[in-house]
Amino acid sequence: MRVTLEGIGLSFEGGAGERVRALDDVSLELSGGVCGLMGQTGSGKTTLLEVIAGVTAPDAGRVLVDGEDASRGAGARALAGSVGLVFQIPERQFFEPTVAEEVTFGLLARGVAAEEARRRAAHALGVMGLSLDALGRRSPFALSGGQQRRVAIASVLATRPGLLLLDEPTAGLDPRARDACLEAVRAAAAEGATVVMASHDANALAAVADRLVCLEAGRVTLDGPARELLGDARLMRDHGLEPACAARAAAALRRAGVAVDGAPLTAVELARAVARGRGRS
Ligand SMILES: Nc1ncnc2c1ncn2[C@@H]1O[C@H](COP(=O)(O)OP(=O)(O)O)[C@@H](O)[C@H]1O
Ligand SMILES: [Mg+2]
Repeated sequence: MRVTLEGIGLSFEGGAGERVRALDDVSLELSGGVCGLMGQTGSGKTTLLEVIAGVTAPDAGRVLVDGEDASRGAGARALAGSVGLVFQIPERQFFEPTVAEEVTFGLLARGVAAEEARRRAAHALGVMGLSLDALGRRSPFALSGGQQRRVAIASVLATRPGLLLLDEPTAGLDPRARDACLEAVRAAAAEGATVVMASHDANALAAVADRLVCLEAGRVTLDGPARELLGDARLMRDHGLEPACAARAAAALRRAGVAVDGAPLTAVELARAVARGRGRS
């Protein structure tokens, strides 16, 4: 699904009569693939995801879904029917007494039959490394923090949203759950979903993002191929962002006189880049 943001602006009451500009003239075209969204705390990432999801109305500009205004009529219905938003603290959104009901809720609400909903819920939980049989009757509130986070992600994945929005989904996950989450993001995009993932984690974005958008004080300050931007340690730093570990290591190796070929983003790519650099010298 194609989402077009045209000149989105939104300001909040900041106290003492001040207005805080959370978003300022943001224009983006999103269509398939994984778009990473980076920016310091308070730069507007969450607000932007909520505007895209239709949860928050902007006070300037508009959002189009497949060319239709997403704030009303057919556009609003298309958006509501296909958006899945994983909130920054998703476990706060639980409202069902059991895990099974929590994860099937969105499916049943979309008219999926009970048996099929259970099958899809089991699959989505399985993707996140959890078992519906083992946890289905438990209260989501009785789970560990990491399990809660994974249940919340699974309940969004289960609906197979055409527009998948994730707000710092890997924060606080252990390495296995983090990898499962990233794999699910990749799989959703491979199936044709348009994905936007806000994250501070350059390593996670290096693993999944095709494109990277950076926000500073509500404005888009970088927008380009994720590989190119994430692999440029100096550019990332200039924008107040932490580069991927491999990009930092490559920069340090170069300063130490070691030839590193290309712009590696992962540990394996870095090892290969050093090996290629040695072959050259
Ligand atoms: N409901 C709100 N009321 C007042 N100010 C808000 C509200 N939501 C966000 N803001 C402000 O908008 C700015 C952007 O916030 P947010 O979108 O949460 O940034 P990020 O997700 O990048 O940390 C911040 O200055 C924040 O304080
Ligand atoms: Mg946020």
